[in-house]
Parts: sequence; structure tokens; C-alpha cells
Amino acid sequence: MGVKIIGTGSYVPEKVMTNADLMKLVDTSDEWIITRTGINERRIASEEQATSDLAYPAAVRALEAANINAEELDGIIMATVTPDQPLPSTACLLQKRLKNTKAFCFDLQAACTGMLYAVEVAHSMIQSNKKYNKILVVAAEKLSYITDWSDRNTCVLFGDGAGALVLERTESEDDSILATSLHADGSFADILKVEAGGSRIPMTAELIGSGRNCIKMDGREVFKLAISAMEDSCREVMNENGVTSSDIDWLVPHQANLRIMNMVAQRLKIDSERVYVNVNRYGNTSAATIGICLDEMIRGGMIQRGQIVLMTAFGGGLTWGSILLRY
Ligand SMILES: CC(C)(COP(=O)(O)OP(=O)(O)OC[C@H]1O[C@@H](n2cnc3c(N)ncnc32)[C@H](O)[C@@H]1OP(=O)(O)O)[C@@H](O)C(=O)NCCC(=O)NCCS
Repeated sequence: MGVKIIGTGSYVPEKVMTNADLMKLVDTSDEWIITRTGINERRIASEEQATSDLAYPAAVRALEAANINAEELDGIIMATVTPDQPLPSTACLLQKRLKNTKAFCFDLQAACTGMLYAVEVAHSMIQSNKKYNKILVVAAEKLSYITDWSDRNTCVLFGDGAGALVLERTESEDDSILATSLHADGSFADILKVEAGGSRIPMTAELIGSGRNCIKMDGREVFKLAISAMEDSCREVMNENGVTSSDIDWLVPHQANLRIMNMVAQRLKIDSERVYVNVNRYGNTSAATIGICLDEMIRGGMIQRGQIVLMTAFGGGLTWGSILLRY
């Protein structure tokens, strides 16, 4: 038996924040942001919208595309670093909105690599236990809530959004997930972090204004590590499957920085026409980027059944990984 993606969905908030808008907040320029990152604009959730409010429309669209009802889901896995609240999981809150009563539900935190981790977990659960036929994987982030809007090093990079997909057991041997490689190295925990707001440094009124409850990143260091890590993990899944660069129909990289994506593609000898990019429109939406890309590409008819798609991501933890998919 195999596992297939039977539906995808995505959602981004309506509010557009342009580089010009950011120039009113911090000392930056449209030219700097575009040349260093490739980002023109990003979407920002409203104050009333929590992460599950972004996840819900993405999930509904994925269920509609899969042509199934929410009550058919056996599991819901939510990848996020911005849960609605510490308890219960955002997956449980989404389950309630979807009116599903039988699915297991949990959140998974692997920062920007969250979607790939969640797909691997869902895939392994379906493969290893006949009870699980259909699992909804959602990656949703309200990063604007943990962004320091006075820090030009980070605030120009991030945006809000959600991507979702439904994985289903199939009777055919043909498995869509050809190979996966997931990695982490906690010794680099300090170079990309939100240090306050947990049990070590609990939230206080003073902390909220200090920026310590927001994303801090050593951008230069992350940049260097991201390129080699994504290249290596892409090679791992390609070698495991005997696939060469010319066999890859699409490279779908985590959308953090256009220069990183271009360098990974160059090293893998994948030409730019086969690299999907939407960082210009949404910035870095952490775990959600790959889900949003897949949905846009599948709905737009770019990814066809049978094509080989290489997904790769890198983020806080550090975490990184790749999945080779035959759609
Ligand atoms: C953040 C990032 C865009 C910065 O680009 P960079 O080319 O590395 O830039 P640097 O950090 O070397 O900074 C260069 C200069 O621009 C300045 N700068 C930083 N942000 C700026 C901004 N928004 N506008 C204008 N200048 C800015 C810096 O202060 C620095 O000035 P200095 O040389 O006087 O100190 C880039 O490092 C990056 O994308 N990192 C990885 C992000 C990532 O992949 N995350 C994935 C996990 S989420």
C-alpha cells in the first residue's frame, strides 16, 4: 500500500504589508529588502485572527479539493511555532471548528521545517497502522505576533499564512513519498530563537516591550548553514532514490530568502525555471511556506500527477530536511 496527497489548500490574510510600509517603521529601503531577500510584500493577520483562524480556511480548501468530509479524518497534525494558546493544541481547536470527533490531534514544532516533519510523521503513521487512512497536515503561522517591529534585521523577513494537505492510504504499491531526510542540531539553538515566554523565562509585562518574546536571528550564520544543510539533505533523498537533478520536475524550497533558494538550486544543478518562488509575495511564513507553494502549484496546474517534486526546508532548532515526492 502507498500514501498519496489527495487535496491541498492554503490561506493568507488579506492585509498586505509592503516594503514601503516597513520603511515607515524601521530604517530600511525597498531596494535593500528586495536585493538581500527577494521580498516585495507579506501578509499580516488582523489582531482578531489567531493561528487556527488561518489554518481553518486552508484546511477547508484542502478537504474540498480532496472531496472528503472533515469527519472522515483519522488524524490532524498541526505544525506551528505560534499556537493559539499553550493548552490545548491548535490541532484540537481546529478539529472543533471542523466538527470532527474521531481524529487524533496534536501540534508539532520544528520551526520552518515543520511541514516536512509533519508529512513524514503522518506518512509513517498511515504506513504503520491500518486504523489511519486519512490524515490532515496543516502548517499555520502568525509570525507577526512574535516579530519585533523595531528590529530591521528580522521584521522585514516574516509574514503570516497557512498551508494544508490531506494524505490518504491507497491500495496500490505506489507511494508518493519516495524518500525523506529529517535532521536537527540543538547546539545551534541560540542563533534563531524566541527566548522568552516559556517556562525558563516566563512572560511578564516588562518582557513584552523588550523584544525578548520575539524572533531573534543571527541572519548571516543562518544563511551560511541553511545553504549547505538543504543541499546535503536534498542529495540524501536523491541518492536514496537514484534520482538525478535532471529527473526533478520541481524544487520547492522553504521560502526564506531568494538568494538561499538560488544557491541551493545552483549547487544541485536545477535551473531556475524549475524552482518555485513566492517569497516575493508572502515573505517567510515559517512552516507554512511549503504548504502554500504546493497548493498554488497544484491548483495552478504546474505540478502534474506523476511529476517528481523535491521539497527542502531549514529553520530554528536548528532543524532541516527534504522530502522527495512523486505527486
Ligand atoms: C537576514 C538576511 C536577509 C540579511 O542579509 P545579509 O546579506 O546577510 O545582511 P547582513 O546580516 O550581512 O547585514 C548587512 C548590513 O545590512 C544591515 N541591515 C540589516 N537589516 C536591514 C534592513 N532591513 N534594511 C537595511 N539594512 C539592513 C545590517 O545592519 C548590516 O549593516 P552593517 O554591515 O553596517 O552591520 C540574511 O542573512 C538571511 O536571509 N538570513 C537567513 C534567513 C533564513 O534563512 N532564515 C531561515 C530560517 S527562518
